[in-house]
Amino acid sequence: MKVLVGGAGIAGLVTAMRAHAIGHDVEVLVKGVLGDGCTAHAQGGIAGAYGPGDSAALHALDTMHAGNGHGDARAIAALVDGATAAIAALVDSGTPFDRTHDGALALGLEAAHSLPRIAHAGGDATGAAISQALITRLRATTARVREGAFATDLIIENGRVCGIRSLDGTEHRADAVVLATGGAGQLFSHTTNPAEITGDGIAMALRAGALVDDLEFVQFHPTVLAGDEPFLISEAVRGAGAVLVDADGRRFMLDEHPDAELAPRDVVARAVAQRAQEHGMPVLLDATALGGSALAQRFPTIDAELRRRGIDWSHVPVPITPAAHYLMGGVVTDIDGRTSLPGLWAVGETARTGVHGANRLASNSLLEGAVFGAGAAESLAVATASPFRSRSVPPDASGCGTNCDRNVDVPPFSRRALQQLMWERVGLRRETAGLEEAVATLEEWQGSSHSAADPVTAQEDANLLAVAHAMASAALRRTDSLGAHFRATADSPALIGVS
Ligand code: SIN
Repeated sequence: MKVLVGGAGIAGLVTAMRAHAIGHDVEVLVKGVLGDGCTAHAQGGIAGAYGPGDSAALHALDTMHAGNGHGDARAIAALVDGATAAIAALVDSGTPFDRTHDGALALGLEAAHSLPRIAHAGGDATGAAISQALITRLRATTARVREGAFATDLIIENGRVCGIRSLDGTEHRADAVVLATGGAGQLFSHTTNPAEITGDGIAMALRAGALVDDLEFVQFHPTVLAGDEPFLISEAVRGAGAVLVDADGRRFMLDEHPDAELAPRDVVARAVAQRAQEHGMPVLLDATALGGSALAQRFPTIDAELRRRGIDWSHVPVPITPAAHYLMGGVVTDIDGRTSLPGLWAVGETARTGVHGANRLASNSLLEGAVFGAGAAESLAVATASPFRSRSVPPDASGCGTNCDRNVDVPPFSRRALQQLMWERVGLRRETAGLEEAVATLEEWQGSSHSAADPVTAQEDANLLAVAHAMASAALRRTDSLGAHFRATADSPALIGVS
């Protein structure tokens, strides 16, 4: 059968490789070039119960706990049980994971894990190593790769998805379509995601009427270099012993959570933003106790980038800020990646499999891409009824009906204005009035025409607006705080303009 994969991060690449190995005729559409996207920037690694004393059950417990109990136990079991096979397949594909002296996987520690279980490559270049290995393998197959093919809409005939239309009007037809375009980090003015991550797959699914859920759960990474050019400083650095201090030199996370710097990511991100606002200056990540040679050896990518920017982190603490990092929600799928639309699958960050709950456990994202990408490929040819018959009606996507104040002063649309609105009103802490203002503004922008410099930017803007509206509406509907979705109260007001 003909299989069309939109996107080529780890989830798309694994799906494509496995589908090709099974014997399917595979075509991959990439908006830019192979190697773009978030996977190549992933530093920490890929989680799994690979080490002594660990078990899939313990990994599952940590995953559910970090996700505030909102995760789907069946999906989490599939994720953690699939880790050993997934990493073996990555090794087979040529990923050079770091090893101990006796040849075992070297394992790092990250927040909310009970013990070290993060396999890594090139120290802190895990995503780049995986991406390179998979791309090399894919290029050696007969699978077709179309770079510069911006997937814009699903083609649906007789109620079944049967292809993708790209921006130049080409119709790419297939028996099975897999969305793997990543999340939507460019919704926010501060993000670790590269420029091309504009919610394209989720927007396509929304336009086609697929079930989309949990969009209110956006993960903000706590330790991104402060300044105009964001750069991720891996949680593995805190796992290795670095600490967070405020402007008074106080190790404030000790007061916030028993696990201090290794508390769940949403807890650390909010505390970092809070301290920065209170002090009017960024929090510092202090890795000086680790020593220059250890930092350079274990974190060569971060070390080189900080030095390029004139920062010697072996001697001075680094100013950091939270930034949008990962979207827990997305296109609803079962554990085989099937969406609510016949003929359509979704994998990786585009999908909402239920594994991440309200807050993703660190280094479970590469794992999700590898495990569910392979699972989806295996299921493409298996004819089954839609897994979502009991929920055939998409959730109400409208934001606040008639409750929103339609008289808000709406600035003209620009990508920057959208990102600022989302950061300020739909960011780390949210309040009802701000969310209503965001929904009303987004509706105003969606209803008006705006000119973009080029067709790619115009399409990306439309996608961002569609996902932003669905996200702000979902955040407004969820009136209680849960995990990464934090509703401010009188005692803990919304943080505005933290940077
Ligand atoms: C990191 O290295 O801190 C990011 C890893 C992840 O997002 O899971």
